[in-house]
Amino acid sequence: MARIFMFDAYGTLFDVHSAVIRAGAPLGDKAQELSALWRQKQLEYSWVLTAMGRGGSADFWTLTERALDFAMARFGLGDPALRNALLDAYRVLDAFPDVAKVLGRLKSARHRTVVFTNGTHAMVKNAIAASRLGGYIDQVISVEQTGHFKPAMPVYAVASRLALADHPSDITFVSSNRWDIAGAFAAGFTPIWVNRTGLPDEYPGLPPLKIVPDLHGVD
Ligand code: LAC
Repeated sequence: MARIFMFDAYGTLFDVHSAVIRAGAPLGDKAQELSALWRQKQLEYSWVLTAMGRGGSADFWTLTERALDFAMARFGLGDPALRNALLDAYRVLDAFPDVAKVLGRLKSARHRTVVFTNGTHAMVKNAIAASRLGGYIDQVISVEQTGHFKPAMPVYAVASRLALADHPSDITFVSSNRWDIAGAFAAGFTPIWVNRTGLPDEYPGLPPLKIVPDLHGVD
């Protein structure tokens, strides 16, 4: 029977650290730390604005820029050319090596494939095109215009409705972000945690149905 497979984008389909790997040579030994701080701040800004009821005041690309600005300042870096190069690389992040294969398999089995992301439509469109994944993805749902970012409960309800699920539990929701799995569980989805880096579990009481090391185990 055809099922709905819904994927988070950043960290799940696309490697957020590939921007620094691609364009961060001038960062030298600061590269990994800067990339981690960039991601951490990007998420923090989305959560803080949502908690304040101001999630609609900035989109995820703006938060990505602000987070990079903070991370660069934190490391005493102010080179505008480096900033632009890192942002350009973020627009075309690498997909993880398992993504095309697994999405292709799901499509061959006639399942529906949906991306549900905090990213803007423009961001995700660019990333999908750069990785040539367009043929494997039926629908992209962004929190853009909702005034919230994941894991706010209303956005999962919007995603469930837009994906035309009869019931939220009909959605197999796949994310490498454990906080996103917690949100999806609370919204009644069927969550699968892709624990790509062997992290310890967290968010007790809000568990995934299944934990897999990469996308191969999702179906
Ligand atoms: C996403 C990020 C936040 O929603 O991982 O794609």
